[in-house]
Amino acid sequence: TAYNGPMANESNNKWDGIIVGASLATLDADSGYGGIEDGAMAWRGGCIAWVGRRRDLPGAPEELAREVVEGDGWITPGLVDCHTHLVFAGDRAREFEMRLQGASYEDIARAGGGILSTVRAVREVDEDELLRQSLPRALALLADGATTLEIKSGYGLDFDNERKMLRVACRIGEQLGVTVRTTYLAAHALPPEFAGRADAYIDEVVAWLPRLHDEGLVDAVDAFCEGIGFDPAQTRRVFDAARALGLPVKLHADQLSDLGGAGLVAEFGGLSADHVEHTSADSVRAMAASGAVAVLLPGAFHVLRETTLPPLDAFREHGVPMALATDCNPGTSPLQSMRQAMQLACTHFRLTPEEALRGATVHAAKALGLDDRGVLRVGQRADFVQWAIRHPSELGYWLGGRLARAVYAGGQRHLR
Ligand code: NIG
Ligand code: FE
Repeated sequence: TAYNGPMANESNNKWDGIIVGASLATLDADSGYGGIEDGAMAWRGGCIAWVGRRRDLPGAPEELAREVVEGDGWITPGLVDCHTHLVFAGDRAREFEMRLQGASYEDIARAGGGILSTVRAVREVDEDELLRQSLPRALALLADGATTLEIKSGYGLDFDNERKMLRVACRIGEQLGVTVRTTYLAAHALPPEFAGRADAYIDEVVAWLPRLHDEGLVDAVDAFCEGIGFDPAQTRRVFDAARALGLPVKLHADQLSDLGGAGLVAEFGGLSADHVEHTSADSVRAMAASGAVAVLLPGAFHVLRETTLPPLDAFREHGVPMALATDCNPGTSPLQSMRQAMQLACTHFRLTPEEALRGATVHAAKALGLDDRGVLRVGQRADFVQWAIRHPSELGYWLGGRLARAVYAGGQRHLR
């Protein structure tokens, strides 16, 4: 381990903090958990300054750091939720009941429910109220270990309401002190005022993007490429607009049918293709060649009672990294825990707990284009979680419960 430490006797040069007494799942290896038993990890200026075995520390912890934290259990990198729609108003519990009685997601969407019912709810509330309703979901994700959140627009579907959603997403990051990456998803559904005029709506989507980007509200661009969403030609126009601004793209791809969405992501050198239940072998090969991440969303798979599995073996065989996310949204995935997403991925997709943890950390960071987090390594952000577990595989095992003992983002502690 590189020594990046302070001189023990220069107190102003000490590390900000050090945690000892826990094992570390660094994930800093091509396979395995990168485990270090009886480890120690120090941070300074929001970044990891030292990682290794406690007995290899260059001095006594209290001489090396201003704060010494006694941990136990295991420490992992902070979890990264790389696909959420957690900014919304209201809920769709009634629609859930209708689906239990036999209505399909598509039936409900075509009848003006689904995404559009959340659009009505979002348009009705002001920015502060939207924040008030959304913040508890972000807090729940943080409390269960997520220190980076991606948040999409897509329930506004007009300039002012898309802007309102993206502003709320940014305010969540400021209020919680975690990284929020915003994604522009105006091409999520066709708003009623554009019924029958999807291409004209895409003209607007393309026109709003540079204005929102100018305000610093957009980190990436997404679309819903689906029979009940937008077709590949329309998606391509949205992607072209992103490319013109140098913004990375990602896509709701091949969730309910194969429209070649994941292949389109690969063609544009995009960050990720998400859902991907119906992705073809050709698209998997294209993703492997382009370096796109497959973002698996087991919450939506579970709630929609899907039966078509993503092409997991093909992803493995071609070395396409698989990330996990909650897809936290009121319709298809009212899921507010990354750990629960990991459990669902292990159960439904037979991911190993190790794949699930990598999917929730390293690969999820890659799906957001972030290379400063996802593993415990000197120089990475000091985003980490201390868990009350005996082995990291428990993170993919327990359903519910409270396992996160402490959550640190940028070296700041969030749970007491
Ligand atoms: O990721 N598929 C489209 N978007 C969301 C669902 C949004 C909603 O139903 O409100 C998804 O599943
Ligand atoms: Fe989604």
